[in-house]
Amino acid sequence: MKGIILAGGQGTRLYPLTVSVSKQILPVFDKPMIYYPLSVLMLADIREVLIISSPEHIDLYRQLFGAGERLGLSIKYAVQDRPAGVAHAFVVGADFAGHDPCALIFGDNFLYGHGLTAILQRASQLRRGGLVFAYYVSDPTRYGVVEFDAAGSAISIEEKPQNPKSNYAIIGLYFYDGEVVDIVRGLKPSARGELEITDVNNEYLRRRQLRVEVLGRGFAWLDTGTHESLLEASDFVQTIEHRQGLKVGCVEEIAYRKGYIGAEQLLRIANYSTDNAYCLYLKHLVEQSGPTF
Ligand code: DAU
Repeated sequence: MKGIILAGGQGTRLYPLTVSVSKQILPVFDKPMIYYPLSVLMLADIREVLIISSPEHIDLYRQLFGAGERLGLSIKYAVQDRPAGVAHAFVVGADFAGHDPCALIFGDNFLYGHGLTAILQRASQLRRGGLVFAYYVSDPTRYGVVEFDAAGSAISIEEKPQNPKSNYAIIGLYFYDGEVVDIVRGLKPSARGELEITDVNNEYLRRRQLRVEVLGRGFAWLDTGTHESLLEASDFVQTIEHRQGLKVGCVEEIAYRKGYIGAEQLLRIANYSTDNAYCLYLKHLVEQSGPTF
């Protein structure tokens, strides 16, 4: 499976932070925001990645990750000229995705919880239909909202409904089969002028090929879209990392643990600086013995 990270948009809710910088490159505690969705794709065993951003920001990501070989990945880049909708990622990424199964994640999505790796690995085995995740939120009107029948099967998804039929929001991580590009090509822009991912999901639902998995309350799906929520996400990461001494969303660590890169390469990255806690952490990974589950 391939993976797309959508890291465009205008980030207007974070003014003035985003006047000269792309939102998804802002720090969430000790790493750029986009590290977290990239780590999700890596945990799903996805190694071919396309990063989509706006014309003025795409080079920031190129500078950050290059061709991806530093992490044992293949990372490509594409430009979205204007924010034409989330599903538009599959128009921009049509050549990249081709007719292969492809995941899509937003560059500002933060996901954390026990058992997530197993869920992601299962998800990336998908070869037919679509798989999306629902999460209970207090403010469903801001999201795509799923309605379940008594048996727990999804029966409808509505984008930003005024009267939501449940509190379950569809999160910004989607797994689709090789049909997705053709499905998006058949869509028309919504009333807000965007190609809606909810329309893609409803098409899979109509075909009876959409699975909606609920992520329970033990998971954290955090927002990073406002000044407060950005700080809260940083606090969350700092709290976990301080308690455990293990990092959240550390793509270098994941690449090393998965064997995409060896000790030599990890140390090369760690040598970026000698008085930096992040680099020291990477260095310790090589020296450490014993399993970390
Ligand atoms: O966060 C989950 C929600 O994401 C889902 O529940 C909704 O069904 C889905 O439509 C989407 O909601 P929004 O449309 O409100 O998403 P937003 O505009 O926040 O865009 C999501 C991310 O994608 C954000 O980081 C900006 C980026 N983006 C957005 C658009 C519309 C782009 O890079 N290009 C775009 O054209």
